[in-house]
Amino acid sequence: NWTTGNVIEEQVEAIRELVGDKRAICGLSGGVDSAVAAALVQKAIGSQLTCVYVDHGLMRKGETEQVEKDFVAATGVQLKVVDAEERFLKALAGVTDPEEKRKIIGREFIRVFEQAQAEIIADEGPAVEFLVQGTLYPDVVESGGGTGTANIKSHHNVGGLPEDLEFKLIEPLRKLFKDEVRMVGQELGLPDEIVQRQPFPGPGLGIRIVGEVTKERLDLLREADAIAREELTAAGLDRDIWQCPVVLLADVRSVGVQGDGRTYGHPIVLRPVSSEDAMTADWSRLPYDVLAKISTRITNEVRDVNRVVLDVTSKPPGTIEWE
Ligand code: XMP
Repeated sequence: NWTTGNVIEEQVEAIRELVGDKRAICGLSGGVDSAVAAALVQKAIGSQLTCVYVDHGLMRKGETEQVEKDFVAATGVQLKVVDAEERFLKALAGVTDPEEKRKIIGREFIRVFEQAQAEIIADEGPAVEFLVQGTLYPDVVESGGGTGTANIKSHHNVGGLPEDLEFKLIEPLRKLFKDEVRMVGQELGLPDEIVQRQPFPGPGLGIRIVGEVTKERLDLLREADAIAREELTAAGLDRDIWQCPVVLLADVRSVGVQGDGRTYGHPIVLRPVSSEDAMTADWSRLPYDVLAKISTRITNEVRDVNRVVLDVTSKPPGTIEWE
């Protein structure tokens, strides 16, 4: 008999038993999954948990601040923030292949973690033996984790882990679907802002730039993404759509005209989807006036973008993310 109360009780008990008097660290990604996983573990072991937020420079506008302020306020969790933007950009320089990007981001992520872990271990206290991850059931299935399903993409929180991983994993959401995770988060007292947040991939904007990831392109995509999110929220559509990746086709250019001049800029793709669990999805039939507003604002306000296109592909055959 599945209830959120049961799930929480069961997990809290299991986590306490597993961790004992040791300590755990948890990476916060800014998304609902890691937030709920962390809150659950925090409930179980309190100050034996330290959260680490790796700012890999691939976050959307305002996300770092949201983790630092809102999540900490809601949970009272111990948080260590690591600014690793330069390191990630260096590692990603010249890389265009999606799987390569995912592997690099996953690898660097773990390395930064190990550094943070070393620093936390150096503090007084019991051994840090555990790493908390917000892996969901669909992640497990799509990565072929014990189900025999073919690997579709290497989700960095499942398949991208390096061999030399030193932690034991705690994955309290491994049996849950997204809607169940939201219910658990709500039950744990997390604010709506976090619980109702739309999913965002671990590799962040790094897999929403088709082409090489650079600081300049990231800044450009952050602006376009912020506009799309702002307008979707203003139109009251946040709960109607599952998520809306905004993608920069950095390797594509098209001709446009702005003011008196010809432009040769990049297209931005809007990928609004509706879904129950991200395993399948349909493209969202957004109102034309909302699409028009987003398009006008992005082409007016974001330098080097002269075209906005809409992705009208369901999943399957298209995945939600472009990479
Ligand atoms: P796809 O693109 O496979 O995405 O249809 C399904 C859902 O998973 C998210 N996603 C990820 N989440 N790490 C994550 O934590 C990842 O590497 C990753 N790749 C995709 C995606 O945003 C969608 O919600």
